[in-house]
Amino acid sequence: MNKLNKDWLACPITKEELHEENGKLSSSKYSFNDKNGYWNFIPDSLDELNSPLWKVWNKLQDNGVSSYKNSPTNNLGVGPRKDFMQFAEFCNFDGLILDVGVGPQKAPTHIEYNEKPNITFVGLDPLPGEQPRAFSFVQGLGEYLPFKDNLFDQVLFVTSLDHFIDPVVALNEAKRVVKKEGSICIWLGEKDKNAPKPSVSPDWYKALQIPEGAEDPFHYRRFSVNDFRIFLSETNLRIVEEKVLIVDEWRKNCFFRLKK
Ligand SMILES: C[S@@+](CC[C@H](N)C(=O)[O-])C[C@H]1O[C@@H](n2cnc3c(N)ncnc32)[C@H](O)[C@@H]1O
Repeated sequence: MNKLNKDWLACPITKEELHEENGKLSSSKYSFNDKNGYWNFIPDSLDELNSPLWKVWNKLQDNGVSSYKNSPTNNLGVGPRKDFMQFAEFCNFDGLILDVGVGPQKAPTHIEYNEKPNITFVGLDPLPGEQPRAFSFVQGLGEYLPFKDNLFDQVLFVTSLDHFIDPVVALNEAKRVVKKEGSICIWLGEKDKNAPKPSVSPDWYKALQIPEGAEDPFHYRRFSVNDFRIFLSETNLRIVEEKVLIVDEWRKNCFFRLKK
C-alpha cells in the first residue's frame, strides 16, 4: 500500500487545505481507518446526501455491490482483461494519477499491470472494498473530491462515469483537481437500448430491484456518447483524442482524452 501524502488534501466541501496537527487533520469531520490506513472523506453531514436522489444512488450502489460480488469478472477490471489493457495503453500513464470510482478490488487491472517508477496511482471510491489496497486509497465521492486544485497529471473515470447521478458535477471536480497541462481519461461503455437481454439471468440478478426513477438496477441514467458530448459543453472541457473499440453488434468501448 502506498501512503497518501497529506499535502495533497483539501476539504471536500470548502476546498480549504487540510493540514496534519499532532497526527490529526485540521478538520475533525473526517475519520481515519487505523486498521487499514485510509481516510473517509464522504461528507455525510451534507443535507444533499440525505435527499431522495441520493437514496436512489445508495440503492443503485447496493445493487452494484451484489454484481461485483457475484460476477466480478463481468463488472470490474479483474486480472489481465484485454479491454482494460487497451484503455491503459490509450491513457499512456505518467505522473500522479487519480482514478475516480476505482472499484472495490485490491487493484483494478490497469493499476495492477502498470506499476512503474514514474507512476503514482491514487484511487477514490465510496466502497472501502478489499483492504488494504495495493495503491493509495481514499474513501470518497467523485462529486466532492478531497484534493487541492491543479494536483494531478491525469484523472481517470474507468467505466464509472455512468454511475454518477450528475456526471457534470463529477467532471467539473475532475477539472478542478487536474493540472492545467494534465488530462482526464474516460472510458464509456455504450450499449444499444435494443440489445437483446440474456435468455437466462442468475438468481442474484433476478433479486435486484430497480429503484424508483432509475433506468436499470445499476444506473440512474444510461447515457450515450452523444449525451456525454452535451454534458461536456457544460464543463468547458474539450476532447483532444478519442478511440472507439467495437465489442459486438450492440456494444462499444469509447475512450476519450479531455483537456481544460
Ligand atoms: C462498474 S464499477 C467500475 C470500477 C472500476 N473502475 C473498474 O473498472 O473495475 C463503478 C464504480 O464507480 C463507483 N462509484 C459510483 N458512484 C460514485 C461516486 N459518486 N463517486 C465515486 N465513485 C462512484 C462505484 O462504487 C464502483 O466502484
